[in-house]
Amino acid sequence: MKGWGTMSSTLRPRPIPGLGANAIGPEEEELVLDVLRRKEPFRYYGLDPNSPPPMAATLEKEFCAYIGTDYALAVTSGTAALEVAYAAIGIGPGDEVIVPAWSWISCFTAIVRVGARPVLCEVDDTLNFDPKEIARLVTPRTKAVSVIHYQGVAAEMDVIQKEAHKLGLFVVEDCAQSLGTSYRGRQIGTWSDVAIFSFQYNKIATCGEGGMVVTRDQRIYERAVRFHDIGNYRPFHANIVKAREPAFVGGQFRLSELSSAMALAQLRKVDAMRKHCRALQARVLSKVTGLPGIKLRRIPDLDGDFGFEIYLMIDDASKVALFQEKLNALNVNCGARTGTYPQYNRDYVKTGLAHHPALSPFRDYREWPAPGYRAEDFPRTEDLTKRYVALPIGWLYTNDDADYIGDSVVAVHREVCTN
Ligand SMILES: Cc1ncc(COP(=O)(O)O)c(C=O)c1O
Repeated sequence: MKGWGTMSSTLRPRPIPGLGANAIGPEEEELVLDVLRRKEPFRYYGLDPNSPPPMAATLEKEFCAYIGTDYALAVTSGTAALEVAYAAIGIGPGDEVIVPAWSWISCFTAIVRVGARPVLCEVDDTLNFDPKEIARLVTPRTKAVSVIHYQGVAAEMDVIQKEAHKLGLFVVEDCAQSLGTSYRGRQIGTWSDVAIFSFQYNKIATCGEGGMVVTRDQRIYERAVRFHDIGNYRPFHANIVKAREPAFVGGQFRLSELSSAMALAQLRKVDAMRKHCRALQARVLSKVTGLPGIKLRRIPDLDGDFGFEIYLMIDDASKVALFQEKLNALNVNCGARTGTYPQYNRDYVKTGLAHHPALSPFRDYREWPAPGYRAEDFPRTEDLTKRYVALPIGWLYTNDDADYIGDSVVAVHREVCTN
């Protein structure tokens, strides 16, 4: 290709992707050291039993203020948060939950773990939950819809919430990948009955492993607290919401003070990370918008977008692999997949098993995989997710990196899409 050699000879080093993990600094050190110096790593009590340590409590308080909700509960992971959220709204055996086929492992497994059946739906050109799928898939057993805000772009929550609530369904928002994203002027996590976040290593804000459950509903809060703390409802929570629910059995998903301290320092950096990503995203978009044969992922609310990943949707799917190969050769990070895969291609869906046969919600099917759990049942998801090249933007990326990414995409486009 003309001009290609020139670019290769001045190859930039590949920038390191990732957000929160790369933003770790003195703020995290200070809060974590504070926990160590006080010798109080457990959230509910330390040296003075009458004065509980502050980190998890402060994290929950600041989290509520940040997203604009009433109750937040720190838990050990986003996966734990999903199980806690489903238990809190009373999802169990015989129930169905509609969830995008294009989603992270736990989006499916958390539903199975509480004994319910995941019903897979298509995504649309936002790569998020297609609101029209609710009417197609609802049955008398449907109890909830679970909406994933995929990679920093909010789903169309006004439409989804209205449609789901009209049918008497709970709305669960899975914000694991998208803390700090908003939709129509409201943070995600405030559009649902219960929402979850993750602080796992690859997430916007991280403490290695951690999660959050948020809600405005006192009953859901109390049930979430009980389920995450082996059925307990301790005075710390009773001071926030008076106990009304009967005790029931729970798991153990409490977040430590050490993890909470780190998550707190990271939460305070989310706006700076978003500002950084959006500025660099704008630079890349100014170069790549409007290239013939490439559309961009549809973003229903551009103002609310986090901007940490740009999705080029290539009209001709047969060109994606080459496009990506050429970008990689130029040291441009460009995942064709971002850890998310269609659920119907995962091993646990192919077997349909839980850890005990009686716990599988698919145990009564005579043939497996049944319709609704096979690739051929999701033509739109199959098409869309085979046509994109994803360009991440990280905390350590510079303006020059952004310009280089934009120029590289234009050069590769010229070579791959116009010949
Ligand atoms: C959409 C979604 N939900 C839930 C999770 C689970 O979070 P965790 O890894 O903290 O368990 C993830 C993690 O990647 C995710 O992407």
